[in-house]
Amino acid sequence: MKIGIPTEITTDETRVSVTPEVVSKIITPSIEVLVQANAGKDAYESDQNYVDAGARIIDDPKTLFQESDMVLKVQPPIENKELGVHEVNLMRNGATLISFMQPLVNHDLVQRCLDQNITSFSMDAIPRIARAQKCDALTSMSSLSGYKAVLIAADTMGRLLPLMMTAAGTYAPAKGLILGAGVAGLQALATGRRLGAMMFGYDVRPVVKEQVQSLGAIFLEAENLSDDVEDSGGYARELSKESQDRQRRMLEDRIKEMDFVITTALIPGRPAPTLITNEMVSSMRSGSVIVDIAAETGGNCEATIPGSVVEKDGVTIHGPINIPASLPIHASNMYARNISSLLEEIIVDEKINLNFDDEIVGGSCITHEGSIIHEVTRQTFKG
Ligand code: NAI
Repeated sequence: MKIGIPTEITTDETRVSVTPEVVSKIITPSIEVLVQANAGKDAYESDQNYVDAGARIIDDPKTLFQESDMVLKVQPPIENKELGVHEVNLMRNGATLISFMQPLVNHDLVQRCLDQNITSFSMDAIPRIARAQKCDALTSMSSLSGYKAVLIAADTMGRLLPLMMTAAGTYAPAKGLILGAGVAGLQALATGRRLGAMMFGYDVRPVVKEQVQSLGAIFLEAENLSDDVEDSGGYARELSKESQDRQRRMLEDRIKEMDFVITTALIPGRPAPTLITNEMVSSMRSGSVIVDIAAETGGNCEATIPGSVVEKDGVTIHGPINIPASLPIHASNMYARNISSLLEEIIVDEKINLNFDDEIVGGSCITHEGSIIHEVTRQTFKG
């Protein structure tokens, strides 16, 4: 079996799906790894590192895709403009693909996989269960985003994060608020604390209160959020109009005292909820910073422009896209290890052997032999 690692062609992507460390784990007497020339360049992995790990370097992407029985990618396959052909159509009929796919919204990709008879696995469909944590790329990447968001805030703010007592006076620690205390939010709270800021966290799910407090942060509560706020998978549901109003009033009251706010709130299958209105931005002190990690799905702040940095009434608002790509070394390491753990589930005795009854395999497989396997994708698919 040949496993191919192409160079990512999505603009500004720096990650590579498999690092040399993982290449050496994958290779066996009957599994060969092909790596496109310069695939690891932006993640600071040279072709020589891959050769030393046992891989074969292929210059031409067309050859790489056509020779591979399995293709491992980070970003969903897209049209290769230079070749004038979609990456899925470069693959061999019946081959296997593993990458982020966003199958609930990227129906064109799902259709192409069906047409090309591709067995596809989406890294964003790995079930959120304890046994699957080693494969959970959403968690690895969210963690990096939460960490980096605090650094972006610290770098932009015109003030210090920690308490500083100097001969030129004593300076109080900055106050940082994290909205949405999931994986990214908890990592942001921990990072802010490590840098010496006074941290506050808020989430609709009351269950995270203890997690926020265990990081030494203060949990803010909106009174009487009576809704059923959490689904069976642990994800947030959309709030009712009354609860949204209560939440808004609480935030209006507290946001004025914050030096930086990091927003991470997402609701699966829905646009990101608006938590920070333009009025709230105007009420913040000049020199404050908002980093909206949810920018990619519309943003939690009314003033966010995805992919841009804007200033409104003296407040700087960042709408970063693809934060993990700003940490290519560790993002690639983590992603490669997540992929390698998934491969352990689907390659048995050096051959692809799919047990769809297994929660990880059955849960993350999107298409197989011309059919949609993933239940939620099947329900939402408009072919
Ligand atoms: P996410 O990225 O979908 O959302 C981020 C956070 O925003 C969540 O905590 C959510 O409750 C919050 N949120 C949504 N609407 C909000 C609003 N209006 N106001 C304030 N906050 C709002 O969440 P993530 O980080 O992917 O985690 C989702 C769940 O999955 C959590 O329960 C987490 O513990 C669980 N999980 C389980 C894993 C496992 O068992 N293997 C691995 C990773 C996460």
